[in-house]
Amino acid sequence: MQKLKEKILNEGEVLSDKVLKVDSFLNHQVDPAFTMELGRELAGRFTGTGITKILTVEASGIAVALTTGLALGVPVVFAKKNKAATQAPHSYSSNIFSFTKQEAVDIYVNKKFISREDRVLIVDDFLAQGEALRGMVNIINQAGATLVGVGIVIEKVFQGGGQALREKGIRIESLAPIASLAGGRVRFID
Ligand code: G4P
Ligand code: NA
Ligand code: NA
Repeated sequence: MQKLKEKILNEGEVLSDKVLKVDSFLNHQVDPAFTMELGRELAGRFTGTGITKILTVEASGIAVALTTGLALGVPVVFAKKNKAATQAPHSYSSNIFSFTKQEAVDIYVNKKFISREDRVLIVDDFLAQGEALRGMVNIINQAGATLVGVGIVIEKVFQGGGQALREKGIRIESLAPIASLAGGRVRFID
């Protein structure tokens, strides 16, 4: 998505070879009109696939998940995070390890919000190692729901998470695939 790539080049800050800061429109301040465009674009890539629900993780995924859900006319569920593993009999949960933050966290979704009949689209702001995604896929499997695909705003392709999940047959659409952040410079794929 050209406009997104330009926004990343104009407003993004490369913090290291692995981390891109996009606080001005995605991770701290949110640009509502632009987030609508992101949602419409992601929704458009999955037209005709019978999606009944969007799943994301709090916090930064929620904005784009909301606009994607609005475009598709389906509810949006965000998995909640919990640092201490707690017994949650009414929830599906999965433990994920954030390489960026070097910490493990449990994500969970109340069972009443995903059912076997659901056809789920996962939406997230970033795809890095794919840990968050693996956790959400795990939760969808626990619910016996169908995973239709994954919509990502920024994929850091060089970190390999997307490749591992695509090899498992999961369809992943990313609006801005990044090949490298080396040398303080953003290089997109294509
Ligand atoms: P992974 O799930 O793909 O393996 O990524 P990882 O665990 O490393 O990511 C941990 C957190 O850091 C996630 O946010 C993810 O969105 C974010 N993140 C990963 N790489 C980048 C990056 O290059 N730039 C920015 N700005 N964020 C990145 P989170 O812990 O879920 O926090 P929240 O912000 O959604 O609350
Ligand atoms: Na984030
Ligand atoms: Na996120």
